Amino acid sequence: MKKILLILLPVILIAGFTLLYQKVNADDGTKTGGLMDKKILIAYFSWGGNTRSIAQKIHAQTGGDIFEIKPVTPYPNDYNETAYGIAKEQKDKGIHPPINNIDAAPYDVIFVGTPAWWYTMAPPVMTFLENNNFEGKTIVPFITHGGGGGYTIDKDMEKLAKGSTVLKPLVVYENGGPGIDKEIKSWIDKL
Ligand SMILES: Cc1cc2nc3c(=O)[nH]c(=O)nc-3n(C[C@H](O)[C@H](O)[C@H](O)COP(=O)(O)O)c2cc1C
Repeated sequence: MKKILLILLPVILIAGFTLLYQKVNADDGTKTGGLMDKKILIAYFSWGGNTRSIAQKIHAQTGGDIFEIKPVTPYPNDYNETAYGIAKEQKDKGIHPPINNIDAAPYDVIFVGTPAWWYTMAPPVMTFLENNNFEGKTIVPFITHGGGGGYTIDKDMEKLAKGSTVLKPLVVYENGGPGIDKEIKSWIDKL
């Protein structure tokens, strides 16, 4: 009996410590607070890279899937052609251009990223919100801008994503500068 106990004791101890180690390390810091156990998608559109960089930083903190919304016909590389040409025309005429698509159905929480374009979200993001059913889902907007702020983009998203709950947006000037990682963390912690 003593012999059996002597053999079993190390096995039990190792198993116990392994379980304890797994429990302590289960929270790898990628999902916290209200996002725990939720299926997360980070969907964003970016023309110049600012919103993409914020999307990647959010993704690094939340985990989940990340998806770049892209119009089927890309915008020109030239700023004036995009800003005062096609984007202005889409804004004025209410055009929501066709995009690459993703099925948002499997996700509970969808972070939706956009640059401010002509006082609202960029038109491809409007297409994304219209193409999917967001009923019962949570939308978390993040917005980059060139000085105008977040406008009413969260409210505009609410109108397009019918039946969703739209949370407080993260509003970032251009790429957010050096303090942005901390800012993202404290925003995510409060969700
Ligand atoms: C077509 C277009 C329209 C824009 N309209 C606005 C605007 O209304 N208000 C604002 O603050 N910035 C505006 N900007 C600046 C962008 O919102 C800002 O530079 C943003 O960070 C760009 O994000 P991105 O690099 O991901 O494309 C506009 C830029 C473009 C190209």
